Amino acid sequence: MKALLLENIHSEAVRLLGERGIEVDSRPGALDEDELIAALDGVDLLGIRSKTTVTAKVLESAPDLMAVGAFCIGTNQIDLAAAAEQGTVVFNAPFSNTRSVVELVVAEIISLARRLSEKNAKMHAGEWDKSATGAHEIRGRTLGIVGYGNIGSQLSVVAEAIGMRVIFYDVEDKLALGNARRCDTLDELLGEADTVSLHVDGRSGNGGLFGEEQFAAMRPRSIFLNLCRGFVVDHESLRDHLVSGHIAGAAVDVFPHEPKKAGEAFTSSLQNLPNVILTPHIGGSTQEAQEDIGRFVAGKLRDLVASGATTMAVNMPQVQIEDVTDGPRILYVHSNVPGVLGRVNSILAESGANIERQMLSTRGELGYVVTDVAGSVDESLLATLRELPETVRLRVVD
Ligand SMILES: NC(=O)c1ccc[n+]([C@@H]2O[C@H](COP(=O)([O-])OP(=O)(O)OC[C@H]3O[C@@H](n4cnc5c(N)ncnc54)[C@H](O)[C@@H]3O)[C@@H](O)[C@H]2O)c1
Repeated sequence: MKALLLENIHSEAVRLLGERGIEVDSRPGALDEDELIAALDGVDLLGIRSKTTVTAKVLESAPDLMAVGAFCIGTNQIDLAAAAEQGTVVFNAPFSNTRSVVELVVAEIISLARRLSEKNAKMHAGEWDKSATGAHEIRGRTLGIVGYGNIGSQLSVVAEAIGMRVIFYDVEDKLALGNARRCDTLDELLGEADTVSLHVDGRSGNGGLFGEEQFAAMRPRSIFLNLCRGFVVDHESLRDHLVSGHIAGAAVDVFPHEPKKAGEAFTSSLQNLPNVILTPHIGGSTQEAQEDIGRFVAGKLRDLVASGATTMAVNMPQVQIEDVTDGPRILYVHSNVPGVLGRVNSILAESGANIERQMLSTRGELGYVVTDVAGSVDESLLATLRELPETVRLRVVD
């Protein structure tokens, strides 16, 4: 087995894969389409971050590629449907940087409430502005969390622990943690919170979720934070409300247009405003998160190789199963049409194979059957399975 890891993936991933006897080629940068196609020759597992694009053309050129590990949160850079069509499993790390984002949000709420960026700038300019005007504790403030998913719900717990009152709004029914209270509408939340933090996902319907109407509905002198997606917020409206003083301060980590690489110029209508903290999309960027991403995704790749487990795969049916203990295991990815399982089992029965355990999972147009058989499987049985018109991919582990 051979793994190609691009974009400086954490050494923990190299260690975990190496431990399984997988040969790892780890490279610092991203590759363009042609370079990637050439580099994938003979590669079973590909690891990337956000700067490598895995197109349908790349996948077509590597039909035997077993899996792509996205060592990041997003998977937009991968053609997930094309990968699924050829049985290439895609994994990502959806939770590894949750805590990092939460910690930055908390730090920024305190910084904004104490107007730290202004005080800091004045000190560097030689001005001693010792005054309590406009500086507040966060204890007792009401935090309104919009989007109560991984990040929103963890923020809820941490914010309560430091004395904030928490309310939240989510389009889905979510369990309220601790003493947090669910709001039925966004307007209800905006009318009550004095600190509003956005943590919605990147679905297209969230474009412009926060504009003139929502900023106007916020309580006077509120604090606003966006560390989720840039396109969710209308920055011109935010600027107007900051300039008028209706919003007392803002922290923004994500922008509708972000520079593609370090060194590229950044411009925003939010620049040069007092009590506004701008950061270059670093909410989840910590050493701890990188290490956890390396461990998490490499673990998924290793489990897939060893047992066929596809737990938390983003594009394939999920099967959670432990490593093979004895006897061979047949991993069969197929088109999800009626009757496939029956045909597989009659082929197994005709060959005299004794099924010890079997698991089936389906997702959209694909099905995945994992079958443990007693004894051995002979080549003719595998050849018959391969010939079925529904076969997408077949592998045996033992
Ligand atoms: N700044 C960073 O570096 C950084 C790092 C990690 C994640 N993120 C971003 O943070 C966001 C949240 O991540 P997560 O892991 O918590 O995602 P998640 O999918 O676990 O949670 C998103 C929540 O938002 C809810 N939601 C979606 N649209 C909504 C709407 N219009 N109104 C109310 N609720 C809505 C969903 O139901 C879900 O509960 C994502 O957009 C992610 O890309 C940013």
